[in-house]
Amino acid sequence: MHSDKILVIIGSTRTRRIGPRIAAWVAHIGSQAIGAQFEVVDLKDWPLPMDDEPGIPALGGYAFEHTRAWSRKISEAQAFVFVTPQYNWGYPAPLKNALDHLYQEWSGKPAMIVTYGGHEGSKCSRQLRQVLKGLNMRPVRIRPGFRLTLDQIKANTGAIDPAAQFGKQEKKVRKAFSQLQVRLQRTASRRWWSWLL
Ligand SMILES: Cc1cc2nc3c(=O)[nH]c(=O)nc-3n(C[C@H](O)[C@H](O)[C@H](O)COP(=O)(O)O)c2cc1C
Repeated sequence: MHSDKILVIIGSTRTRRIGPRIAAWVAHIGSQAIGAQFEVVDLKDWPLPMDDEPGIPALGGYAFEHTRAWSRKISEAQAFVFVTPQYNWGYPAPLKNALDHLYQEWSGKPAMIVTYGGHEGSKCSRQLRQVLKGLNMRPVRIRPGFRLTLDQIKANTGAIDPAAQFGKQEKKVRKAFSQLQVRLQRTASRRWWSWLL
C-alpha cells in the first residue's frame, strides 16, 4: 500500500547544534502517531550556495545540478516538518535559502513547524509560517515550541535529551501530527478530484 512520505527538515547547520537530536525525536513521535514514512533531512548534506540560481524559482527551470537534486528530493515528499531554532528572532539563513531555491516542489503541500529557543522560538515560528504560506504551503495551526534554559544556551554543548526535557510537549506534537494527517488526506482527495474532472 502506498504510504505518504514526510521529510523532517533540520533548520540549523552550525557545528555544535542540537537540531538533529530534536528532529530525530520529532520524527520518532511522528512515525508512531501517523502512518507515514519519515525521513530526516539535514541541510548540511544539501549545501546550496546562497541564492545562486539566476532564474525565478516559481517560474521553474534550474541552472544548477545541485538545485535539480534538491528539487528531486523535495518532490519525493507529500508533506514536511520543519524543526528549527530561533536565531536573532528569525530562523536560520540556510533554511530560507533552501526554501527559496524552489517553489512548485513546496507548493500546495501540508507542513508542520516545530521551533525551539529561550522563548520556544515563537518569533521564528510565526515568521516561518508566513513564508510557508508565501510558498503556497498548508501549515497546520498547532506549532509546538520547546523552551531551552539560559544555562543550556550559554553552555552550548550540543548535547540534549529531547524526550527528557520536552516530554511534556509530546501530546502537543502528536496533535500537530494529527492535523498534518488531516491536511495530507484533504490534499490527496483534492488531487483525485482534479484528476477526475
Ligand atoms: C546566531 C544565533 C542567534 C540566536 N538567537 C536566539 C534568539 O533570538 N532567541 C533565542 O531564544 N535563542 C537564540 N539563540 C540560542 C539558540 O536558541 C540556541 O543556541 C540553540 O541551541 C540553537 O539551535 P542549534 O543548536 O540547533 O543551532 C541564538 C543562537 C545563535 C547561534
